[in-house]
Amino acid sequence: MTAHPDTVLIIDFGSQVTQLIARRVREAGVYSEIVPFQSAKEGFYRLKPKAVILSGSPASVTDEDAPGAPQAIFDSGLPVLGICYGQQTMCAQLGGHIEGGLHREFGRAFVEVQQASPLFEGIWAEGTRHQVWMSHGDRVTVLPEGFEVIAASPGAPFAAIADESRRFYGVQFHPEVIHTPDGAKLLSNFVHKIAGLAGDWTMAAFREQAIAEIRAKVGDGKVICALSGGVDSSVAAVLIHEAIGEQLTCIFVDHGLLRLNEAEDVVAMFRDHYNMPLVHVEAQDTFIGALEGESDPEVKRKTIGRLFIETFEAEAAKLGGADYLAQGTLYPDVIESVSFTGGPSVTIKSHHNVGGLPERMNMTLVEPLRELFKDEVRALGRELGLPAHFIGRQPFPGPGLAIRCPGGVTRDKLRILREADAIYLDEIRKAGLYDAIWQAFAVLLPVQTVGVMGDGRTYEFVCALRAVTSVDGMTADFYPFDMDFLGQAATRIINEVRGVNRVVYDVTSKPPGTIEWE
Ligand code: XMP
Repeated sequence: MTAHPDTVLIIDFGSQVTQLIARRVREAGVYSEIVPFQSAKEGFYRLKPKAVILSGSPASVTDEDAPGAPQAIFDSGLPVLGICYGQQTMCAQLGGHIEGGLHREFGRAFVEVQQASPLFEGIWAEGTRHQVWMSHGDRVTVLPEGFEVIAASPGAPFAAIADESRRFYGVQFHPEVIHTPDGAKLLSNFVHKIAGLAGDWTMAAFREQAIAEIRAKVGDGKVICALSGGVDSSVAAVLIHEAIGEQLTCIFVDHGLLRLNEAEDVVAMFRDHYNMPLVHVEAQDTFIGALEGESDPEVKRKTIGRLFIETFEAEAAKLGGADYLAQGTLYPDVIESVSFTGGPSVTIKSHHNVGGLPERMNMTLVEPLRELFKDEVRALGRELGLPAHFIGRQPFPGPGLAIRCPGGVTRDKLRILREADAIYLDEIRKAGLYDAIWQAFAVLLPVQTVGVMGDGRTYEFVCALRAVTSVDGMTADFYPFDMDFLGQAATRIINEVRGVNRVVYDVTSKPPGTIEWE
């Protein structure tokens, strides 16, 4: 790749939130690249940036072998913004002093603006107080020559500093996190008002660049993609298809644990709408056969994971194999931090469905979304022209309905669950609540209860309804439906689905519950 004309270089010292800095810069319409500190010098010369941001770090500047920024950056005349550790290393490298360990400040704090600065322009006036997020044990105690304090907090007298003539800025707090409510605007001021960058970088530009990168990486190699129909793998597939056309084949495994009409919808969209080579594997018998009689949730999950890999492998072999495996991995799926001993270390969520495939099949991964957050992937999907209803879909777990059917899975139970789930979601859509809910679904309990319908006694299953709000799936609150809504959904399910005579609503948050029942 040639250097982008208006790049912000972000040097990563291993902070858990470095990706958020990149995200805020993207939101300001400016292209950025993150480079680990070990290769910062090489990245600086390669990318020819117009501005540099130094991230936070778990390290301490007072440690003997504390990482620093290349001196070339400070000599280049470019604007530099140091965040937390970035501020401290900038000060230490330019002749200031840092004190370790004495002034721990974690969480919400308030800074008072001491002096006007382009960093605060249009946001923070002199003499005003503002909420910020702090997370530091060390702090600057002596400023390098040329610097002045522009904001102070009780725990950090040098909460924000500037050398306006050299355009060097440092903040002890974290402007990239949402707990600093004006942080995004501060970063926007840095890239626009201080660095003078235009802000014309868009999702359309990301799309162009991602396509160029995919082409450069894959060449004329063959790529396969496990398509689940979820937003992430769908957007990844469409993007890669746009880049390399028929070199991509998608494999869609129907394990018989999908929702009503889901397989047909996915296949129709990709084959008919996108004209994409797509193998539709009908593996219902294999999966349901292996699950029948099994009620241990972990055994169910592991069985599905194993069969998925075996099925996928067999289909890939029929295609003559492939050189690359495409995955819709997102940034939150990748817990990536800079290691101080070697390269970056990567951990993928243990329940990630196709984890294990690349090693087993000796394929190289293509993950064009790995720097994006979910809402950015949705924006990219819109950019690629995916239908709105597809982009807005709620997450659906890889093991599918099997983990919403506690106890043994049978075809009849799956039929009941599918019908109840479709009615519940239909009611949610009709009430205009779909987009306000992170996930809503029905669960079929392995419990039968007595009821009376018409003049007869019934003895049928209990269906539980679940709906939660969440930001990232890690924690969740149950959705507070009004009782009329729940009553209406319950009545329809009992009237229309044969096999259910009682409906209950799950009012458990996560923690202590999980979102799924198994
Ligand atoms: P839990 O139940 O752990 O779920 O609170 C958190 C989120 O993850 C989804 N989930 C999965 N997604 N494969 C997936 O792709 C899985 O094995 C899996 N298990 C849970 C769940 O639907 C929720 O969004």
